[in-house]
Amino acid sequence: MARTLIRGGLVVTAAEETHADVLVDGERIAALASPAAADAWLPGVDRVIDASGKYVIPGGVDVHTHMEMPFGGTVASDTFETGTRAAAFGGTTTIVDFAIQQVGGSLRAGLDAWHAKAQDNCAVDYAFHMILADINDATLDEMDLLVAEGVTSFKMFMAYPGVLYSDDGRILRAMQRAADNGALPMMHAENGIAIDVLIEQALAAGRTDPRVHGEVRKALLEAEATHRAIALARVAGSPLYVVHVSAAEAVAELTAARDLGLNVFGETCPQYLFLSTDDLARPDFEGAKYVCSTPLRPVEHQAALWRGLRGDDLSVVSTDHCPFCFAGQKDLGRGDFSKIPNGLPGVENRMDLLHQAVLDGHITRRRWIEIACATPARMFGLYPRKGTVAPGADADLVVYDPSAVQTVSAATHHMNVDYSAYEGRQLTGRADTVMSRGTVVVEAGKYTGRAGHGAFLRRATCQYLS
Ligand code: URP
Ligand code: ZN
Ligand code: ZN
Ligand code: ZN
Repeated sequence: MARTLIRGGLVVTAAEETHADVLVDGERIAALASPAAADAWLPGVDRVIDASGKYVIPGGVDVHTHMEMPFGGTVASDTFETGTRAAAFGGTTTIVDFAIQQVGGSLRAGLDAWHAKAQDNCAVDYAFHMILADINDATLDEMDLLVAEGVTSFKMFMAYPGVLYSDDGRILRAMQRAADNGALPMMHAENGIAIDVLIEQALAAGRTDPRVHGEVRKALLEAEATHRAIALARVAGSPLYVVHVSAAEAVAELTAARDLGLNVFGETCPQYLFLSTDDLARPDFEGAKYVCSTPLRPVEHQAALWRGLRGDDLSVVSTDHCPFCFAGQKDLGRGDFSKIPNGLPGVENRMDLLHQAVLDGHITRRRWIEIACATPARMFGLYPRKGTVAPGADADLVVYDPSAVQTVSAATHHMNVDYSAYEGRQLTGRADTVMSRGTVVVEAGKYTGRAGHGAFLRRATCQYLS
């Protein structure tokens, strides 16, 4: 088994920053030592990676991606192969994607279908949440089986009536089951019933542009659904993880719940921190590139999200990576914003955007690692195997150059999508060398991994409960 020594870097974890050399033995981190003490390891190593002037950080953990997800009559453009390769380029070495139950189908069939898409195709390790689209007696029993297989979190939708939507009674039943079996309920919190009325009214009034997507999906309807989801979880006695929080009013609901000491957690995404309704209002249908749900908000909401992230009312930043090409996919909604497939690309950009947020003074360097690596790993039962740099952990490591300057562009990114939501943006910081379980998968801008290196991760239950 190959032994690699990563020398001279500043090791940054959620807990501390130390000048240490990292010894990798096979797939795991064997030891950390001061540079002087690490000299003793030199005779026994196969390879030395120079990290001087750089950070050594845990590989990013992105707990919200949708590779090849069917949506709105099309399929997200990144496969597990292209999407996980792009993740690796961006310093992310673990993804948790969403397997989907078909209405009328079993969880087993849904999970098996997603295993088939991912197996032998991933560049980095992967796990699954399960989307509950049809909650009934059989589904509830199957939840227990999935928890035993390491699929320990279940997403439900208060949005998308007639597609993925669950009513409050079904949601309550699934939460009650989660309270029993230790699973973590995840919620897409938007009042989809009310939103559908507003969509119909807007279209009837001839308002068809992408910007209207943001106007009908009101912040108040995100906050209302967030409040309701919290109430249902309290009644059920389960924890709750609210995905893709974008509205200041929704953050306020999370803050109120957490001030009561409840196990209620919030996730936001880079698009809500860095983009706004100004992007959704871009002319010539370009706003379609920015259609996702929850929607981008007016720029004023960003301050509340940053504050939430600093205070842990928002605990995780994931991407909700769900790419659709502008040509041929976003196009489906020309003349009717409700037919634009929902989702933005970003799996490759998250670590760098959040590093930029460190430089901009929004968060500290350790908080960067906490919200992007450590807490997502703990929230979804992967810690300390993932999310930290410590002896015994998987050697998922990134040598990160904090002073490399890059200009984000679709011309140079590795995601299989024909635009970048951050086109032209200059960022400082970039992954240099990326290691997944001891194998270097990206080095000097080149992919050195292989499809199938990435393994399925059986997860424990949530490790972030108070
Ligand atoms: O617009 C989004 N977020 N698309 C992906 C599906 C979801 O609701 O997360
Ligand atoms: Zn969602
Ligand atoms: Zn999503
Ligand atoms: Zn800023």
